[in-house]
Amino acid sequence: MNICVVALGKIGLPLAVQFAAKGHRVIGADVNEKVVELVNAGTEPFPGEHDLDVKLKRAVGEGLLSATTDTTAAVAQSDAVVVVVPLFVDAEGVPDFGWMDSATEAIAKGLRPGTLVSYETTLPVGTTRTRWAPMLEAGSGLTAGADFPLVFSPERVLTGRVFADLRRYPKLVGGIDEASALHGVEFYESVLDFDAREDLPRPNGVWDLGTAEASELAKLAETTYRDVNIGLANQFARFADQSGIDVKKVIEACNSQPYSHIHQPGIAVGGHCIPIYPRMYLWNDPSATVVRSAREANAAMPEYAVDLLAAAYGDLTGVNVLVLGAAYRGGVKETAFSGVFPTVEALTARGAVAYVSDPMYTAAELTAHGLTPHDGEKVTAAILQADHAEYRELTPADLPDVTVLVDGRRTTDPEAWQGVRRVVIGG
Ligand SMILES: NC(=O)c1ccc[n+]([C@@H]2O[C@H](COP(=O)([O-])OP(=O)(O)OC[C@H]3O[C@@H](n4cnc5c(N)ncnc54)[C@H](O)[C@@H]3O)[C@@H](O)[C@H]2O)c1
Repeated sequence: MNICVVALGKIGLPLAVQFAAKGHRVIGADVNEKVVELVNAGTEPFPGEHDLDVKLKRAVGEGLLSATTDTTAAVAQSDAVVVVVPLFVDAEGVPDFGWMDSATEAIAKGLRPGTLVSYETTLPVGTTRTRWAPMLEAGSGLTAGADFPLVFSPERVLTGRVFADLRRYPKLVGGIDEASALHGVEFYESVLDFDAREDLPRPNGVWDLGTAEASELAKLAETTYRDVNIGLANQFARFADQSGIDVKKVIEACNSQPYSHIHQPGIAVGGHCIPIYPRMYLWNDPSATVVRSAREANAAMPEYAVDLLAAAYGDLTGVNVLVLGAAYRGGVKETAFSGVFPTVEALTARGAVAYVSDPMYTAAELTAHGLTPHDGEKVTAAILQADHAEYRELTPADLPDVTVLVDGRRTTDPEAWQGVRRVVIGG
């Protein structure tokens, strides 16, 4: 097959490499010239994706993968087009389709009868049928379904381990009609391999969800579930704080029974996905009060962590406070919707002076994110925001003037902090 992957980002590039590794000829289309140049040179444009460097070099070296900025021309040569251009959502959950619209217009111009189009970007329910189908039809003069198969197939992998996750998770597909779904299933079966999994109700592989809408909802539901679950854990944690209960022990105990899967409470839910997709879901279903409350509960946690600090330390006016961790989670160099921002904001609102350090970021990088890097200033209080592995080894000797540490992720070793007031969420 000739396959076009539209957008060579953290998801699109590993996908393109995977399809090439299965022996197909793949053209990656991206608007970023630098990305295209690097891919054509067999050089990965971003670090951190396991095995990508080796597999990319091999695919390019074998002549199976090339990149271009000309999406229309790439689509015109392809039997299947996989689209994984990002979609953005504002604070109110309103999607900004700008990048995806322009990609779809470029695809439409090159679309030929019979070419499968599969959208993998997480979308509000209904987008494939009501937005992409008409746009593709208008630009190509073809009819979706009758002339070309159209499916939605959400990408469920985690960056850093894309190749392993592609084998591990069933590939969900939903068509705008039955024939589209059949094409989609056949396509993904020829480009992916799956690990055997005893724990699933059906064999691991490509699962047809029946409609594009069901497939769109599956991705929003699995991510929203996590936000709601964390929201519940955070409410238990706040109650535990009032009641002198250690919520961690309670959650461990609950989860020893197979029907309980309570997640961990913590200072913040960050990243591109978990804080965003519930808002996208709410855009579809504004009556989802459970989803809305959980989002509010999670969004309030950075402020709550600062409340805990103030309760233990006293007035924070003029106090130098160090926020440990700019990344939204440990070991990932990504600040999208990171808890660092609302934590710094809540500290500043109380008159504290907030400094930030992170083992993955240079001072210049922190400054570029609008944060004040810690450069040896005397700090007397600290809040741990990201669960970087390095912080497991953190001791009071590293922060000699700190009298209160709020560990927002329970990452530090309680034994090591015995001489200093160490406060945890739900502890
Ligand atoms: N990153 C994740 O962890 C993750 C996980 C699962 C699913 N996803 C889904 O994948 C989507 C893409 O995420 P990502 O992390 O790969 O994004 P990314 O930011 O790494 O890359 C996006 C790429 O899209 C390119 N692009 C922008 N407009 C384009 C256009 N009109 N035509 C062609 N290319 C264009 C950019 O130049 C960039 O290279 C997300 O929106 C999400 O729905 C992401």
